[in-house]
Amino acid sequence: MPTLIVTTREGEERSLEGEAGLSVMEVIRDGGVDEILALCGGCCSCATCHVHVDPAFADKLPAMSEDENDLLDSTSDRTATSRLSCQVPFTDALDGLRVTIAAED
Ligand code: FES
Repeated sequence: MPTLIVTTREGEERSLEGEAGLSVMEVIRDGGVDEILALCGGCCSCATCHVHVDPAFADKLPAMSEDENDLLDSTSDRTATSRLSCQVPFTDALDGLRVTIAAED
């Protein structure tokens, strides 16, 4: 199973086994990292699953939809590496992906 490496807001690093087919948000949430609220359940309407993705993986990520882009604009901690983790399917190609939980809005 591919591994996802998550850095929490406190700077703690966790290594999570992710089932391919889940979203990055689901891997983080199912891995017990409760900083990801994912209030909308993954339907791209809350932005509480905001993460910063290691730029080394940028070209392996799916393109961002207009909805995701608009929603990220409403967050205070948006950077060039921002993504909504519910919009990124976790696949074998993303093995070793590093994400950092974004600041809370
Ligand atoms: S879980 Fe709500 S936008 Fe991702």
